[in-house]
Amino acid sequence: MRKIVIAIDGYSACGKSSTAKEVSNILGYRYIDTGAMYRAVTLYFLDHHVATTNPKEVGKALQDIHISFKINSKNKSETYLNGLNVEKAIRTMRVSEMVSPVSTIKDVRVAMVEQQRRMGKERGVVMDGRDIGTVVFPHADLKVFMNADLLTRAFRRQKELLDRDQMVDLDEVVENILQRDKIDTTRAESPLRQAEDAVVLDTTHVTLEEQVDEVVRMALAKM
Ligand code: C5P
Repeated sequence: MRKIVIAIDGYSACGKSSTAKEVSNILGYRYIDTGAMYRAVTLYFLDHHVATTNPKEVGKALQDIHISFKINSKNKSETYLNGLNVEKAIRTMRVSEMVSPVSTIKDVRVAMVEQQRRMGKERGVVMDGRDIGTVVFPHADLKVFMNADLLTRAFRRQKELLDRDQMVDLDEVVENILQRDKIDTTRAESPLRQAEDAVVLDTTHVTLEEQVDEVVRMALAKM
């Protein structure tokens, strides 16, 4: 069977990462969480007080940032920033509130897209994000565009945060999702939009297992 590239894009908190992770496990593919990469850059900018309006500072910071993924003992991919495990730190509200503004910066996107293309070069990869099927891999073999209604997404995200011992009001989660969707869809640089050849998957009334089965079925048909 030939190795393919699977691009999963969509709005915040509609199950892209959970689906992509499971699909990659089933197919024995590499999973790349591109949102985690933008989150890691944001964490670095926050911790190092990088002035995001100053291109020189941003450029210097990007040279100092090295992002990688490692599989832990539970077979889960975790994000590393300059050799440190930042998987937990990048999921905090502090980062969630800043990640979309940081992701509008052209130099940040250029650096991330270059790295993502390198990571997917060997194919056999499931990549999730906002611009994978439109910009990173416009010729991906399978493109999925995921969505779900707002409250469903907010409940799921709140549960994820609670599972990580972070108590957050539902209102705050809703506000953050809306804010990120707005910035992600309206930014000048590679805004979130559905690729013309993407298959739409609305996950509002669908279980994770069903989502995964559907994507695996479509992937197998392309191999
Ligand atoms: O996927 P996740 O919700 O963790 O992504 C966090 C943020 O990173 C998104 O809201 C978006 O602003 C940005 N992002 C992006 N392009 C990607 C992946 C994520 O701009 N490919």
